[in-house]
Amino acid sequence: MNVISCASLTKRFGSTVAVDGLDLEVAAGQVYGFLGPNGAGKTTTIRMLLGLITPTEGRIELLGRRLPDPRAVARTGSMIEEPAFYPWLTGRRNLEVAAATGGGRDPAEVGRVLGLAGLTDVAARKVNAYSQGMRQRLGIAAAMLGRPPLLILDEPTNGLDPSGIREIRGLLGDLTADGSTVFLSSHLLAEVEQVCDRVAVVVRGRLVDEGAPATLGAIRRRVKVGVDPADAGAARRLLSRWPVQEMNGEFLVEHDNGRDVNGVLAAGGVIAERVTVEQPRLEDRFLEITTREDAHAVIAES
Ligand SMILES: Nc1ncnc2c1ncn2[C@@H]1O[C@H](COP(=O)(O)OP(=O)(O)OP(=O)(O)O)[C@@H](O)[C@H]1O
Ligand SMILES: [Mg+2]
Repeated sequence: MNVISCASLTKRFGSTVAVDGLDLEVAAGQVYGFLGPNGAGKTTTIRMLLGLITPTEGRIELLGRRLPDPRAVARTGSMIEEPAFYPWLTGRRNLEVAAATGGGRDPAEVGRVLGLAGLTDVAARKVNAYSQGMRQRLGIAAAMLGRPPLLILDEPTNGLDPSGIREIRGLLGDLTADGSTVFLSSHLLAEVEQVCDRVAVVVRGRLVDEGAPATLGAIRRRVKVGVDPADAGAARRLLSRWPVQEMNGEFLVEHDNGRDVNGVLAAGGVIAERVTVEQPRLEDRFLEITTREDAHAVIAES
């Protein structure tokens, strides 16, 4: 069953298209990464998923219920941007307040989520003495109150140091082992690459890529070809059957098989001097997509 399903989801603010025709399907039990650079529309999408703002167009279903049915979001735990707390109350007290306003949940729940978030030792401290990482974890703890089957977290690793990020990764893994589904956004691929079962990449409100992190990287393998400068013109013609770029006198061919590329060159009478298959890290891929999409947008606007 899909826990989140959106079709043609669009949000415009005046002339700004923050989210542009987004289709998403998130299956139960996954950690799903929602990736994009700053301003890509991640928070806007999450606000729509949580019923905090109304889509301009499109349809959203959460846990089998169509928004704006309030029952759709009732079983969803969430954290958006900087979590807000009462600074003069302790971490524990803040969670107790959140648990009570969330419908008088079991007080033992507070102890459980504090433990899960690694905050038991600092639970008696006032939140205004918390580091950013502690606040972030307290936000995640609050989202986990009542064991919601779906957690939606906006940039949960924001402001955390590498060890904090590792802890959050471990925590998210534990949650899905428990049967929950986690949807989290990030603008830093490296932070979520290891923890996500699937990722969607958004740039300027549009979905530009989707899939398992490993496949995303693998599909986009490129073949790097070096030829004698005298053969460059012939090679350019022969390789034009694939998307190809030229960089520092080499051709970067968007294809995953070096033999095919070499075969086409040889059949056209060009002997390649070097043929290597590149396996870009997802992070590089992300950067590349981002820059390319931005470039397209700039061209389209001018
Ligand atoms: N209430 C609003 N009114 C007008 N424009 C808005 C509003 N909220 C968001 N936007 C615009 O929509 C676009 C997407 O913003 P959004 O905050 O969703 O991006 P984001 O992916 O969450 O970015 P970040 O990584 O910086 O958090 C931006 O251009 C932003 O300026
Ligand atoms: Mg945001």
